[in-house]
Amino acid sequence: MHNLELKNINNVLLLGANGGIGQALLSKLLAENKELQIYALSRHPVDHSRVHNSVCDLINEESLSVFLAKYPNVKFNLILNTIGFLENELGGPEKSLRDINEAKLLEYFRINAILTPVLAKVVRNHLASEGFAFVALSAMVGSVGENELGGWYGYRASKTALNAFLKNISIEWGRVYKNSLVLAIHPGTTQTRLSEKFNIRVTHKIHTPDEAAKNICDVIFSTEFERSGSFLNWDGRSIGW
Ligand SMILES: NC(=O)c1ccc[n+]([C@@H]2O[C@H](COP(=O)([O-])OP(=O)(O)OC[C@H]3O[C@@H](n4cnc5c(N)ncnc54)[C@H](OP(=O)(O)O)[C@@H]3O)[C@@H](O)[C@H]2O)c1
Repeated sequence: MHNLELKNINNVLLLGANGGIGQALLSKLLAENKELQIYALSRHPVDHSRVHNSVCDLINEESLSVFLAKYPNVKFNLILNTIGFLENELGGPEKSLRDINEAKLLEYFRINAILTPVLAKVVRNHLASEGFAFVALSAMVGSVGENELGGWYGYRASKTALNAFLKNISIEWGRVYKNSLVLAIHPGTTQTRLSEKFNIRVTHKIHTPDEAAKNICDVIFSTEFERSGSFLNWDGRSIGW
């Protein structure tokens, strides 16, 4: 049984480097491994000497492929997708079926779910042979079994689809790579742009982005490769699908 160690990794591919949790993860990873280089494709620039950043409005297969083609010899030990949204110009999460909007549902799936298998496809020639983790931030509300409140159709179902994609990727890569760790991680309710409007009624603990980043790193760097394909809470507990 063994796992990835932060002190031994060289290159991280980070999507969502400007988000609340993404920024905190970027700072933590750079602070704790002084050799680490981070590669980030985002809608806004990230300014740091060890961050190789490209800015682009549309993050998709084409822009990711063009970005990665600039670094043909770089192999990643950690690929982290923190991109996700709950509300956009088409509105917030649905309270009931009355609020269903086809275009918004498609956007939820495009950003919160489909981007991850696309990322897995384009990064396949950049996976470190000694071992790597491929992680996307999911959400507890994506659990079908633990859904007791309803609502939030698009966000919930897109995170459920994300989990299904990650499980599938873990199976495919488990056959090919000796040390691959594919995880869906729920970061815990965290004070960020995404959640700020919805945290008013929350009665459980709300994490700061730094706490969330610490918890996510603890989970990634303590989970054995053998547990690839898991859906994990911020404290390492398994969440039901
Ligand atoms: N905060 C919570 O309580 C909570 C709970 C459960 C799960 N999560 C998940 O954690 C992840 C990080 O969220 P956060 O809380 O850090 O939220 P955040 O601060 O709003 O960050 C979201 C990130 O997603 C990017 N993004 C959103 N829509 C995009 C689009 N159309 N194209 C490209 N990039 C886009 C944002 O890029 P820009 O900076 O360019 O806007 C930003 O980097 C998300 O997947 C979220 O679902 C969060």
